[in-house]
Amino acid sequence: MRKKVVAANWKMYKTPAQAREFFRDFLPLVSGHTRDEVVVCPPFVDLAAAVDATQGSGVAIGGQDLYWKAEGAFTGETSAAMLLAVGCTHVIIGHSERRQCFAETDDTVNLKLKCALEAGLIPIVCVGEVLEEREAGLTEEVLRRQCLRAFHALSGKKAGTLIVAYEPVWAIGTGKTATPELAAEAHALIRSEAAKSLGQDLADNLRILYGGSVKPENAATLMAEPEIDGALVGGASLDPKSFAAIVKY
Ligand code: PGA
Repeated sequence: MRKKVVAANWKMYKTPAQAREFFRDFLPLVSGHTRDEVVVCPPFVDLAAAVDATQGSGVAIGGQDLYWKAEGAFTGETSAAMLLAVGCTHVIIGHSERRQCFAETDDTVNLKLKCALEAGLIPIVCVGEVLEEREAGLTEEVLRRQCLRAFHALSGKKAGTLIVAYEPVWAIGTGKTATPELAAEAHALIRSEAAKSLGQDLADNLRILYGGSVKPENAATLMAEPEIDGALVGGASLDPKSFAAIVKY
């Protein structure tokens, strides 16, 4: 049995004070909930406040990105060691918004993934097709390419903690959710790619989250699908009640 992961991606929302307010309201709603792993990924400037506010709660904190160099003249970037130092355990890599707005490529995703694993951060690697690719029948090809290149030169032994999020880009922030069947198909394909690159053992234990307009209303149906090992939640994770309802689907 793969333990499900419910992860929040706050994107560019909330100040440190707002992050503290969120946890003040959210933590009592999920206290004692141990069925799933819960991770919240706030903006960098909120990380210290989020780590402080979640001490002892079982809620893990992650970064939304990292840079693969140890340190240096890289204005605006954040290293794995910095994320660890502030108390992060997880990091999102290759989110479609990073790919679309900030020129992230499959190759930088691979560099970031290797760096996160090396440092001991738990990576949540995002893959997913855009609408034009789905409509052109290219979904399989895109997912295969994204996985193959993300997992390049990695072994199953090194990638043991890897989490993947399947986020069809046409479902992100649009209110359109993939059906559980459609998500399951994509997850099965990602799992088979992981098996090829990283070995069957890793693939069998790999948590593959679904992301894209996950809401309290559709969380239970999505989570009931055996191929769906959790959720990566954007918009609906900003409100404590709504995210707690998803965690407790
Ligand atoms: P959404 O975002 O839940 O707002 O669709 C998901 C994501 O981008 O991770």
